[in-house]
Amino acid sequence: MSTKKVRIWDLPTRIFHWALFLLVTAAIVSVKIGGNAMVWHGRIGVAIVGLLVFRIVWGLVGSTYARFAHFVRGPGAIRAYLQGRWRGVGHNPLGALSVLALLGLLAFQVSTGLFSNDDIAFNGPLYPLVDKDTSDWLSGLHNQAEWFIYGLVGLHIAAILYYVRFKKDDIVKPMITGEKAINEPGVESARGGGVLAFVLALAIAAGVAWAASGAIVPPPPPPVETPSW
Ligand code: HEM
Ligand code: HEM
Repeated sequence: MSTKKVRIWDLPTRIFHWALFLLVTAAIVSVKIGGNAMVWHGRIGVAIVGLLVFRIVWGLVGSTYARFAHFVRGPGAIRAYLQGRWRGVGHNPLGALSVLALLGLLAFQVSTGLFSNDDIAFNGPLYPLVDKDTSDWLSGLHNQAEWFIYGLVGLHIAAILYYVRFKKDDIVKPMITGEKAINEPGVESARGGGVLAFVLALAIAAGVAWAASGAIVPPPPPPVETPSW
């Protein structure tokens, strides 16, 4: 059977992926440094908000294999995959669950982080919108989710190593170049996800990141002057 090069991951999806990898790593490093680096933890976290929103919109308006409708499948497809009967391109039905879990967990992490406080000097930018008890509760959830992030990211990287090493399927290269050599008949390169779709996704992502950075939080009331007598 003849092998042909098929474009599976469009450029925005690839940039999203490697930027997410770098920023999640930076968010963890900054929080481990602590102190003044917490300000950076917050900034990096807000950038991750933008990335996640971009990916959600891109999952609706992006190119073929980046769309949720293409890779989010029911239990039937997962069973077929596990029995070795699934044929397809892009995220496989089981891998799609891990993609959704990663996106969902990171969305949870940034949402709780925005309202968190570290009881010392750093508060998330939306902290003024909740009371201290709620912020403490959200900070607790934010801290505990750390281990789930390590677990899911660890599983993600282990699955990728398994594909590359044991299944001899280099799935990392397509996440860099966008293309994969495929020998299935009838498989076409990704279509759609043009400039308009990109601008729409970028504008929505920038708007949500702007709001998440605290731009819409009302300023605190000026301190009440107490008379000196
Ligand atoms: C995916 C993105 C994020 C990751 C992986 C992450 C990770 C973490 C981790 C592991 C901790 C716990 C540190 C410890 O135990 O000492 C933490 C604390 C914290 N993070 Fe994040 N974070 C993220 C996003 C955010 C965002 C968006 C904000 C706010 C803008 C934020 C604000 C905070 C605050 C205020 C704390 C201190 C909480 C406390 O001390 O109880 N984080 N973060
Ligand atoms: C913090 C670390 C990481 C996170 C949060 C992460 C997250 C993700 C997400 C959300 C996707 C889905 C992509 C999409 O459709 O938008 C994905 C796919 C992928 N990731 Fe990662 N990733 C991380 C690290 C890595 C590393 C270090 C590698 C390479 C060694 C890697 C290789 C891949 C590959 C090859 C895919 C495509 C899998 C497929 O063909 O179905 N990732 N990752």
